[in-house]
Amino acid sequence: MSSKIRLGILGGGGDSLIGVLHRVASSMYDQFQIVGGVFNPVWEENIGFAEKIGLATNRVYKDFDTLIAEEIKLPKVERMQVVSVLTPNFLHFPMAKKLLENGFHVICEKPMTTTYEEAKILLHTQQMSNLIVAVTYTYTGYPMIRQMKKMIAKGDIGNVQKIDAQYYQGWINPIIHDKEKRDNIWRLNPEKSGISCCIGDIGTHAFDMIEYVTELKVKSVLADLNYLYRDNKMDIDGTVLVRCSENVKGVIRTSQIATGEENNFTVQIYGDKAGLKWEQENPNYLYFLEDGKPIQVLKPGHIYNSELSLEGSKLPPGHPEGIFDSMGNIYKGIAKAIKNEAYDSAEFPTIIDGLRGMNFIEKTIQSHQNGNVWVKLD
Ligand SMILES: NC(=O)c1ccc[n+]([C@@H]2O[C@H](COP(=O)([O-])OP(=O)(O)OC[C@H]3O[C@@H](n4cnc5c(N)ncnc54)[C@H](O)[C@@H]3O)[C@@H](O)[C@H]2O)c1
Repeated sequence: MSSKIRLGILGGGGDSLIGVLHRVASSMYDQFQIVGGVFNPVWEENIGFAEKIGLATNRVYKDFDTLIAEEIKLPKVERMQVVSVLTPNFLHFPMAKKLLENGFHVICEKPMTTTYEEAKILLHTQQMSNLIVAVTYTYTGYPMIRQMKKMIAKGDIGNVQKIDAQYYQGWINPIIHDKEKRDNIWRLNPEKSGISCCIGDIGTHAFDMIEYVTELKVKSVLADLNYLYRDNKMDIDGTVLVRCSENVKGVIRTSQIATGEENNFTVQIYGDKAGLKWEQENPNYLYFLEDGKPIQVLKPGHIYNSELSLEGSKLPPGHPEGIFDSMGNIYKGIAKAIKNEAYDSAEFPTIIDGLRGMNFIEKTIQSHQNGNVWVKLD
């Protein structure tokens, strides 16, 4: 029998955006084997997709409840060990909770739930078990982001004094100006998406990123969001001022109506000695800035990088790695945790990061709705 970790998948079918990323990432270090799942709620699509990717169909189930009921009948050595939840947001909480209650580790897409309350319940459920919940803030798997984190922790930029994260996309621009189109996507439907679109979808990546690289906690936020149309219930653009302390302040700038932008996610952290800058669309370059000196560009795979960063490069320097590799590094960390092997806690985001993300979304919306006021995070 294969020694690979038995992985189930919920969502991520042929019609999805994120499914292929998880499938490729899970196979990247030969640690996981996909054994079944529910890829689509429509049976023909579900089974048709499984056949298309060459998966044995005996463990492709008609729905989530059937997956749980059938899997727990199997001997433990055959049963799925971990299940990735890649569905629209509103299904994350009920699926993740039931998986934990039935003894499965969980890999959950972000945002982890649709409310902060649900996130707290999920944390309680996880604490009652001995199980892992990883939340796939994909970008934390990039080698140069991991290098940035380690350099900041080592004091290479001194004391952090300015934080700036931007995530600009333009994909919703062709949709938002057409009423019929905007009424027909799940990301603009609060029942499926939760209380936020832009902040929940990409603001949460920026928030997680600044806490990940600086190891600081955002204490309060002040938000100004844009909805563009009165009948649109969901933010599609927003600027959020963040405060970690009296001396460490910054901004998260997010948009899905930055026309023409693709995934322009940048993070810039400035200390009293130096600064570090990174851009998702050119992820193999990390810029190190010092007063009066030429800019330095650090790249993956070189021995000057930290152990954590090098752990995430599979090839010698000069072979560009991208978002698939970044997610692959997250799966690699999760595999170590499932196998009870030693790992760096920075190797994958956990339920605590998912909970922080939900706290951020809720307080950001509150700040805007209460007239752009400062709101404290828990
Ligand atoms: N980490 C990232 O960078 C990143 C990027 C994109 C999306 N996401 C997240 O991934 C999730 C999915 O996003 P997407 O863009 O792939 O969505 P999508 O709409 O493209 O795909 C959703 C998939 O879920 C399936 N699905 C729906 N209901 C289901 C059910 N009841 N049972 C089983 N499958 C079901 C659909 O058939 C489809 O395959 C969202 O939570 C989103 O926020 C994360």
